[in-house]
Amino acid sequence: MTTVAERIKTREAHVVVVGAGYVGLPLAVETSKAGFKTTAYDRSREKVDSLSRGVSYVKDIPSATLEPLVKAGKLAASADPDVLSDADVVIICVPTPLNKTKDPDNSFIMDAADMIAPRMTRQQLIVLESTTFPGFTREALLPRLTEGGKKADQDFFLAFSPERVDPGNKKYFTHNTPKVIGGISRASLEVAQAMYGCFIETVVPVSSTDSAEMVKLLENTYRAVNIGLVNEVAIMCGRLGLDTWEVIQAAATKPFGFHPFYPGPGLGGHCIPIDPLYLSWKLKTLKYNARFITLADEINSAMPELVVVMVADALNERKKAVRGSRVLVCGVAYKRDIEDVRESPALDVIELLHRRGAEVAYADAYVPSLRIGEHELKRVPIEDAGKYDCVVIATDHANVDYSALVDRAQLVVDTRNATRSVREKHPGKIVSL
Ligand SMILES: NC(=O)c1ccc[n+]([C@@H]2O[C@H](COP(=O)([O-])OP(=O)(O)OC[C@H]3O[C@@H](n4cnc5c(N)ncnc54)[C@H](O)[C@@H]3O)[C@@H](O)[C@H]2O)c1
Repeated sequence: MTTVAERIKTREAHVVVVGAGYVGLPLAVETSKAGFKTTAYDRSREKVDSLSRGVSYVKDIPSATLEPLVKAGKLAASADPDVLSDADVVIICVPTPLNKTKDPDNSFIMDAADMIAPRMTRQQLIVLESTTFPGFTREALLPRLTEGGKKADQDFFLAFSPERVDPGNKKYFTHNTPKVIGGISRASLEVAQAMYGCFIETVVPVSSTDSAEMVKLLENTYRAVNIGLVNEVAIMCGRLGLDTWEVIQAAATKPFGFHPFYPGPGLGGHCIPIDPLYLSWKLKTLKYNARFITLADEINSAMPELVVVMVADALNERKKAVRGSRVLVCGVAYKRDIEDVRESPALDVIELLHRRGAEVAYADAYVPSLRIGEHELKRVPIEDAGKYDCVVIATDHANVDYSALVDRAQLVVDTRNATRSVREKHPGKIVSL
């Protein structure tokens, strides 16, 4: 029997990606393009059926890219865990959310491990890409994989390599974003490096899985904390009667030592609002309070409420109450030019407006339907903006003509500085964060 390293080298290795979502699908496309027979294993039958027809559900992967790979038999999809018995390389890309008490929920990874371990029929490389806390791969995943008697670095190699996918990014994709890898041993690192070196331009080895896990959390904590800082700067500028955006843009002209971050209605997506809390949770078990993370989470989580207060104050100026007012939220995806609404702060804004008795509709070309709890939201054409008492720009998709939107609207609360160029033309109509 050949080793997994040899099978990787000759491209004979069969890659199974566990979890074909925003991270797993682009990865499966890359490994199949690199010449590895690839199977996307997902427990969602809907996703498997869609992939089997060559139809993509991830905006960054056009069906035109996916279909030829599926038709040529280079990329398959399956909901049957038995595909894992024929795997040489298994890459885990399942969700890592928080539970109700904001603690890490690693149950999806553990479920995946329970599928993989009993089906290990030959030497495998197993890589975890899902974000988790430092120590998880070594302390939790490794013991689970060895429970049945399999031996690390003999029956399987194990590494952690954090995904850095940035949905909607037009310059950096899976293949040209440097990839950090840590192994549970030197041997595991070498096999994982060889694998990723086949389809990623730059591979960045680090000394351990713990270190690779921490790299990812540093990156996302850096963003969460800086966004928290700039959200607080926006609050301070509001009190001082200053234009936050002018201040940030002028500061950004400094050619060194300053990197601009921008305020908004709060954090969104599967990473930035969640990952730092994985780190603070881990540190709590070591009796350390990660203060920056806690503070940033507090400030960022309070931003939707601030936006709703801005709406209430702006309506009040016009002798209107929030209760009974009609509000149109423009852009509900968590960031510009994507369709993902997970953790989107726009949803919190909508919920808070509902609670105060507003009648809320939304406009977003990328999001065809939206349900928040009991409420099925009504999507309306952006051209109807004039029929609403207030328009809230929660996400600034590039496909919107903001000048025309302001012309039509009665009142605009702009959380993204999308209306800057027309603000002077409409005195009193636009309230900006
Ligand atoms: N989306 C991003 O931009 C992004 C960026 C970097 C890192 N990450 C991290 O990557 C991981 C995956 O995120 P995502 O956005 O791709 O999630 P996702 O929800 O889009 O995809 C996960 C997929 O895993 C499937 N799944 C869950 N449990 C499974 C199991 N036991 N067996 C088989 N399939 C299973 C789900 O059906 C789903 O299709 C998370 O840890 C996330 O934090 C995400």
